[in-house]
Amino acid sequence: APAVAVVVAAGSGSRLGAAVPKALVELDGVTLVRRAVDALAEAGIDEIVVTIPEGMVDAFAEALRGAPARVATVVGGRIRQDSVRRGLAALGAAADAIVLVHDAARSLVPAETVRGVVAAVRAGADCVIPVMPVVDSVRRVTVEGNEIVDRADLRAVQTPQAARLQTLRDAHALVERDGVEVTDDAAVCEYAGLSVTLVPGHRDALKITEPIDLVLAQAILEQRRQ
Ligand code: CTP
Ligand code: MG
Repeated sequence: APAVAVVVAAGSGSRLGAAVPKALVELDGVTLVRRAVDALAEAGIDEIVVTIPEGMVDAFAEALRGAPARVATVVGGRIRQDSVRRGLAALGAAADAIVLVHDAARSLVPAETVRGVVAAVRAGADCVIPVMPVVDSVRRVTVEGNEIVDRADLRAVQTPQAARLQTLRDAHALVERDGVEVTDDAAVCEYAGLSVTLVPGHRDALKITEPIDLVLAQAILEQRRQ
């Protein structure tokens, strides 16, 4: 089965605060969305649907021109899961294709991480997500006060997240039918009763969210050039 992808890039990037949607912000002269698409293509993903903000078709076509994969764009939805659902609907691959859902904002994900996610689905996992240890001490805040949470039990979740195409479409349909709001595709899969398998994430797959993250991303690029 082929591996295909939805790259979600329809957000505005309000926390980044740039003059253009976050996915069109440039890092070293290349847009974040293009970097994300190129990373997936490098890992052998051959069909990619990119979700984009309304009214931005030309700007995204320009950013994605000449990308080393078959790329189509589709307008995203109100929240991320709406965008994912629209992206999944626009994919032309077979029902048993492996589909990755990836944040354009995780522009520097290494191809090795992408391959690890695909391999785990090929090996039989329902839903696969890359995760990282949590470095901070963590406390849970309640009405009574606050309490320690053992960070050894916690993982921070990244993308790309993967499943079989029909499996993920069905899971999203269920979440949509029930009006459930989630923050990632693993939550969609779990809601549909699927098991979630963890594989190692990577520091470079950080989600570019605030201006300082662009500084870190720039440093990662410089380090890669050495
Ligand atoms: N996204 C999307 N459709 C939405 C909301 C988000 O496709 N309705 C995408 C974003 O483009 C991004 C990814 O989901 O690549 C993760 O979202 P986030 O990092 O929160 O990006 P934004 O929502 O654009 O940023 P902010 O929350 O700061 O406005
Ligand atoms: Mg957001």
